[in-house]
Amino acid sequence: MIPVAVVGVSGFTGLELVKILINHPKFELTYVATSEGETSLSALHPSLYEIIEMPVEKANAKAIADKAKLAFLALPHKASMGFAKELLDLGVKVVDLSADYRLELETYEKYYCPHEDKAHLPQAVYGLPEMYRDKIRKASLVANPGCYPTATLLGLLPFLPYIDASFPIFIDAKSGVSGAGKKCTHNTHFVTINENIFPYNPLIHRHQPEIAEKLHKQSGKQFDVNFVPHLLPITRGEMIDTYALLKKPIDPLEILHEYYKDAPFVRVFDKPVDVKSPSGTNFCDIFAKSDGNKLYINSAIDNILRGASSQAVVNANLMYGLEEGEGIPVIAYVP
Ligand SMILES: NC(=O)c1ccc[n+]([C@@H]2O[C@H](COP(=O)([O-])OP(=O)(O)OC[C@H]3O[C@@H](n4cnc5c(N)ncnc54)[C@H](OP(=O)(O)O)[C@@H]3O)[C@@H](O)[C@H]2O)c1
Repeated sequence: MIPVAVVGVSGFTGLELVKILINHPKFELTYVATSEGETSLSALHPSLYEIIEMPVEKANAKAIADKAKLAFLALPHKASMGFAKELLDLGVKVVDLSADYRLELETYEKYYCPHEDKAHLPQAVYGLPEMYRDKIRKASLVANPGCYPTATLLGLLPFLPYIDASFPIFIDAKSGVSGAGKKCTHNTHFVTINENIFPYNPLIHRHQPEIAEKLHKQSGKQFDVNFVPHLLPITRGEMIDTYALLKKPIDPLEILHEYYKDAPFVRVFDKPVDVKSPSGTNFCDIFAKSDGNKLYINSAIDNILRGASSQAVVNANLMYGLEEGEGIPVIAYVP
């Protein structure tokens, strides 16, 4: 068994990591931590009572290095790079769920904060397996993608050769409230979001530069990306509707089927997708339709699984030469 650690275990993605790792045939959870420690897993997450019991430590890089070969960092950005740099120097592999290693230095510093680990940043591999599977296999540091960029990029990637880059791409995104993490804010307060839907950070959300940067890396073209996220009154799930103009008419479903014929965690549908069907799984469900030169792409994921924790474990599987789908959830929470 390969010993692994979860740092930030009190949060939403931390809990999902534990739930996957409990049943994983090759990874063994040997260390879990929060910023304060001195508690237990079931005290933090009553749903784990009598399922798994282990002490929750105050996060410490040397203690992690003593007990684990790989650490999942389920931490806010900035906190993550503080741990990652120490862990990497101690020989521990890292899958970081935050934004700290996802972007080029200039993009990161423009949209987040000054980077505190410029030494390791160049070795980070963007953890979208459909884009960088081979690089992830050789990586010691994987930057797990953002939830919105995961579903958006998986929808757009097959169509990049066909999209007319001289026109803008519009992305209409909707997420369940767990996407914002466990801390309650005005937007995520029950009374605000219940029976409601509203956009937030239109055209300035931090996932917009992440999507634009990865599209540029993949195609060499500078796309004009316009991204508007909305909050939905559901706990988990994310739906992306993307609109672009094509250079000439195409058969979008044929292109999707061909592009993803060997991808175990992308399901191509011949009708619009919903958020419930991939919920509880690592699947990204995709549908697309065109009308002349107008292209519509419709994709859905579970934001805390494919958009975070299950994708993180897929990346760890690849980093250890395991089967991509080893221990990864595929049965949806339906109904
Ligand atoms: N939620 C999603 O759908 C989603 C999707 C993709 C990516 N992400 C990213 O994944 C990361 C975690 O997200 P989340 O939703 O799980 O957030 P969360 O629910 O707010 O949990 C974050 C956890 O990090 C811990 N923490 C904060 N600072 C720490 C420090 N200095 N040392 C140790 N632990 C610390 C906190 O634990 P204590 O305060 O209890 O110590 C908290 O439980 C974030 O970077 C987020 O952007 C989230």
